[in-house]
Amino acid sequence: MKRACVIGWPVAHSRSPVIHRYWLKLYGLDGAYEMEAVRPEEIEDFLHSLGQWGYKGANVTLPHKEAALAAADRPDEAATAIGAANTLWLDAKGLLHASNTDAYGFMTHLAAEAPDWNKGSRPVMVLGAGGAARAILHGLLEAGASKILLANRTGGRAEALAQGFGSRVSVVPWEDRNRALAGCGLLVNATSLGMTGKPPLDLDLSALPKDATVADIVYSPLETPLLAAAKARGNRIVDGLGTLLHQAAPGFERWFGVRPEVTPELRAYVAAHLGAS
Ligand code: ATR
Repeated sequence: MKRACVIGWPVAHSRSPVIHRYWLKLYGLDGAYEMEAVRPEEIEDFLHSLGQWGYKGANVTLPHKEAALAAADRPDEAATAIGAANTLWLDAKGLLHASNTDAYGFMTHLAAEAPDWNKGSRPVMVLGAGGAARAILHGLLEAGASKILLANRTGGRAEALAQGFGSRVSVVPWEDRNRALAGCGLLVNATSLGMTGKPPLDLDLSALPKDATVADIVYSPLETPLLAAAKARGNRIVDGLGTLLHQAAPGFERWFGVRPEVTPELRAYVAAHLGAS
C-alpha cells in the first residue's frame, strides 16, 4: 500500500486528509493518507527518515514549510523561489524532492474563476506579507502581472518581501490601502483576517473598480466579510477553497500515480466538512 501524510505542529486542523482520502476512495486506490504531528525539534530527523516511516511523500504545513525545503535533495523552481515547500516525494533512488504548490493552487483556481483577471494589465493589490502572500506574489508574477501593490500592517515585512521580487512589486503603506484600490483589476487578501475567530479585514472598497475581481485565501467561512462586501457591490469574487483543493493535486499524483480532478462534487464535499467542523 502506498502511504503519504501531512506533517505539521499542530496538524489536527489540516483539511488535507479530507481531500486526499476522498480521492483515494474515488479512484479505488490502495493507499493511505495520514497525519503526523511533529515537533519543531524533531522535524529534520523526521523528514530525513520519511522513507523509513513507510511514506512515499508528504504535505507539509505550518510551521515546517521552510524546514521541508531545507531537507530536500531536489527542490523545484517554485519551492526555491518561494523559500518554502508544501509537497515532498521520494524518487526511486530515495532522493527527496520538494515543491511548493500554493502558487499553482491559487493561480489555477483564479484562472478558472476569473480567466481575464489580467485583462488590461491593471495593477493588482495584495494584502499581507506572510508565507501565503509570498506564494501568491510568485504565482502572479509568473503569470504576467505587470504591477503589484503590496500592503501589510507591518510595513517592514512588506518591504522585505517586495525586495526579493523586483521592480514589478511596490509597497503601499497600510494606511493608504483604501485609495490604492483605484484602478486595480484584482484585489487579493493574503492575510488571515476574516477567518472564523479573527477580526474582519478593515478595508473600504469604494475606490475599487466595479469590474475588478476580489480573491480571498481564507476559506473558513467560505464567504468572508470581504467577499460578501465585494459581491454586494458587483465585483466578481474568488473564494479560498479552490486554492486549497488545487494545491493538493500535484502531490496526490506523485504519491499515488493518478492525477486527481478538482470537481464540483469534491468542492461540495469539503465545503460540507468545513461547515460541520
Ligand atoms: P501566513 O504565513 O500563513 O501568511 P502569517 O505570517 O502569520 O501567516 O501572516 C499573516 C498575515 O496577516 C500577515 O500579513 C499579518 O500582518 P503582520 O505582518 O502585520 O503581522 C496579517 N494580519 C494578521 N492579523 C492582522 C490584523 N489584525 N491587522 C492587519 N493584518 C493582520
